Amino acid sequence: MKICVVGAGYVGLVSAAILADWQHNVVCVDHNEQKIEDLLAGKLPIFEPGLQELVELNRRRQYLRFTAEMAEALRGCEMIIVAVGTPPAENGHPNLEDFWAVVKSFRENVGNNVIVMIKSTVPVGTGEAVSLYLNEKVSHTFSVVSAPEFLRQGTAVHDFLHPDRLVVGCMSPEIREQMKELFQPLDCPKVFTDWHSAEMIKYASNSFLALKISYINTIANLCEAVGGNIQDVAAAVGLDHRIGQAYLKPGVGFGGSCLAKDTQGLIAQGEVHGVNVWMFKDVLEVNYEQRVHIVQRLTEVLGNLKGRKIAILGLAFKANTDDLRDAPSVTIIAQIIKLGGLVKVYDPVVDSSSLPNIISVSTADNPYAACQGVDAVIVLTEWEEFLDLDLKRLQKSMNAPVFIDGRYLFERKRLLEAGFFLPERPSSSEWPVVQSMISAR
Ligand SMILES: NC(=O)c1ccc[n+]([C@@H]2O[C@H](COP(=O)([O-])OP(=O)(O)OC[C@H]3O[C@@H](n4cnc5c(N)ncnc54)[C@H](O)[C@@H]3O)[C@@H](O)[C@H]2O)c1
Repeated sequence: MKICVVGAGYVGLVSAAILADWQHNVVCVDHNEQKIEDLLAGKLPIFEPGLQELVELNRRRQYLRFTAEMAEALRGCEMIIVAVGTPPAENGHPNLEDFWAVVKSFRENVGNNVIVMIKSTVPVGTGEAVSLYLNEKVSHTFSVVSAPEFLRQGTAVHDFLHPDRLVVGCMSPEIREQMKELFQPLDCPKVFTDWHSAEMIKYASNSFLALKISYINTIANLCEAVGGNIQDVAAAVGLDHRIGQAYLKPGVGFGGSCLAKDTQGLIAQGEVHGVNVWMFKDVLEVNYEQRVHIVQRLTEVLGNLKGRKIAILGLAFKANTDDLRDAPSVTIIAQIIKLGGLVKVYDPVVDSSSLPNIISVSTADNPYAACQGVDAVIVLTEWEEFLDLDLKRLQKSMNAPVFIDGRYLFERKRLLEAGFFLPERPSSSEWPVVQSMISAR
């Protein structure tokens, strides 16, 4: 099949590379010329395990090419996949400007029957609106398919190839058969439904994942106050098959471009239609409080943050990605700096120059260098390489050995054995000891 994928981001690039690997003739178009130039030069604009190899292989085999020219990319294609960003707007609804700009260009540039597959996450009703718009005043047919994407950054290639389910919303039995054939390589349950349901499945899934994370963080905060080891609690609760282990990880909460955006999007849709959606508002509030909570704990243990040196291990919003969109690290670092703290960062993939300009930090080449002489260290990304750290060496190199494990990456026992202070509630009698270590510096 001749396929045009619009958007060379996490979803578009991965979809394009895999469809090319399935021997479709794929062109991936993006209006960001720099991105396309980089791709043409063999440089991927995003970090995603396994993607570079897939892109290189399929470019060599000539199943995959890149361009910044939309009209040229659309010429003669049998299917168009829309994978542009739908970032949150001020009012909580997704901003669909890019999405509609792309859709409108199809009516101008496509003169044959074509399938338009929507992979961007869009509000319920968008598929229908796109179909109405595209099929007005044209003699050929645009068959719209809502096929929301469920891949996770960091494991995107794997997730695309091994999804828990495929969701396809379309209204014509003929197109449904074509979709069955297209996705034949996927060995997973395949849900064929209408446009509205497909769109809702995406929102309902992401808001449920967000809810699970905020739920376990609420339990973590309760454990801190009343006792209980949240790592044991989360593991045991998750062993109940009705609940499951996934997304039951306590910590600094979710970030990235999807969970908060889609939960907000669901709230906005509920409000437009007069449906009570308070539950999802709480999910978001709990999530952002986790970031505040970390800075509060830090201030409690160090007395105040003025002139205090803080190491941050991990900037990415999650492991195995270079994405900083809505990353807890950005909010937390900004807050520490505002309170007078000095921040040194280390991340194995994210360059600190990607942080917003107003955030001034120093960068270290490795975790040990980041922690040298600091008053506290905070882990904000669950990078696997952190698990191999020599914690005793890290502890010895610090000015005051305060450790905040924002991802519950380490066993508590291991941190205590390495000689760290773990700021937890209720406030500990050890904090004056920590503070005297700093003033004796
Ligand atoms: N990132 C994820 O993990 C993920 C997972 C599932 C679904 N989604 C959804 O998929 C969509 C895309 O997400 P993403 O993370 O891949 O976004 P992204 O920001 O990484 O990529 C979007 C790309 O679209 C391009 N683009 C925007 N307007 C364009 C235009 N007019 N013409 C051509 N290209 C244009 C941008 O330059 C960018 O490269 C969003 O709706 C998102 O909610 C994302």
